Amino acid sequence: MEPVMDDHRLAELISLSDRPPGEADAALTELGPARVAEALLREIAARTRLLPGPAEKTTVQFDLGWADQRLRYLLTLGPDTHEVAPGHDPLAPATYQQDLPELLRAVFSPGRHDATRALLVRDSDEPHGLSLDDPWLRQRRLAVLAAHQATQAIEGRFTDLTSLAVRFDADKWGGHWYTPHYQRYFEPLRDRRVKVLEIGVGGYDAPDLGGASLRMWKHYFYRGQVYGLDLYPKHGVDEPRLRTFQGDQGDPAFLTGFAAEHGPFDIVVDDGSHFSEHVLTSFAALFPSLRPGGLYVVEDTQSSYWPGWGGSTDLNASSTSMGFVKTLLDGLNHQEQIRPADRPASTTERTVTGVHVHHNLVVIEKGVNTEQGTPSWVPRTEDPRTWYPAQ
Ligand SMILES: C[S@@+](CC[C@H](N)C(=O)[O-])C[C@H]1O[C@@H](n2cnc3c(N)ncnc32)[C@H](O)[C@@H]1O
Repeated sequence: MEPVMDDHRLAELISLSDRPPGEADAALTELGPARVAEALLREIAARTRLLPGPAEKTTVQFDLGWADQRLRYLLTLGPDTHEVAPGHDPLAPATYQQDLPELLRAVFSPGRHDATRALLVRDSDEPHGLSLDDPWLRQRRLAVLAAHQATQAIEGRFTDLTSLAVRFDADKWGGHWYTPHYQRYFEPLRDRRVKVLEIGVGGYDAPDLGGASLRMWKHYFYRGQVYGLDLYPKHGVDEPRLRTFQGDQGDPAFLTGFAAEHGPFDIVVDDGSHFSEHVLTSFAALFPSLRPGGLYVVEDTQSSYWPGWGGSTDLNASSTSMGFVKTLLDGLNHQEQIRPADRPASTTERTVTGVHVHHNLVVIEKGVNTEQGTPSWVPRTEDPRTWYPAQ
């Protein structure tokens, strides 16, 4: 399906959801209200795939106010049905009414937005039976389920990464056990308009396979843009707010150009080849393009200990990914080290503010690591006990 708007416009649209009522109208006019409505409806339809709904096809009429117009769309929901089309059905079982800018806020802005919408479930003018076998009551029940699915898609958020991993069959939980760690580190960024880059889309050379974790990030970061980088073309995986690129994580010139064009990023996850050399090359090229407050994650660091993967049985070999991580630990305290004057702190040392090491997973925090060290009068080379009064 052709995208309704490109990445940049979609990112701009999401940013408009932060503007107070009235202030986004000119920009929405420029983007085109019909295109905006369709982009929102497609996002809603994508979210309904993750939610329980009616057992039979049921239509929700969207009736969106814009100036003196009504923009009307039909969202059809059912088992394996999540379709959007422009249209008006006066007999639709359920109707959702809201002004377009308010729907934008409801879909992409944190907080509650239900005060600005009305939900109508079509009722019978005729008397009907009271049992659920009654055709009218049965249809009404389907309408309530469809209306609930649609409102959950608009206003609810997918806050549990483990459930998303299981839903999309991402091995970040089940194959590995990473999602509880991710939840802990990513939670503060969930409501932000983050840009997430993951190296390794999955599915190797099959163009339509893979993308499980990218979908997981997309739905967790409901206002984010997700980029996937893979050695193989993966365009079959692309969808709104999720775009893939072909490139080699072992090629520093490519990575630098990619970061200049698509960065800066808030999160980078390296789940690519897991060769130590590639892990180090990618970090050197991409960490500079991480925003302050951002997180750089390296997965599957077990390969650091395996010679066949460019790792080593020497636990301190600086050429391996875990050997490199150990150098980051000392770099955190660069202000405290006794160093020759011709070995100033490196950019990495000055910008890594935290290193969290878990089983096979490393999370590196970016920020300013130049806070004052211990005062210079505190002895470094003398034993400080010579200063204490004798007991
Ligand atoms: C483990 S899969 C990624 C799984 C995915 N992140 C997920 O969690 O659903 C690894 C992917 O890395 C890709 N890859 C291997 N070597 C690479 C390289 N040098 N540069 C970029 N991607 C690479 C492979 O093609 C494969 O699709």
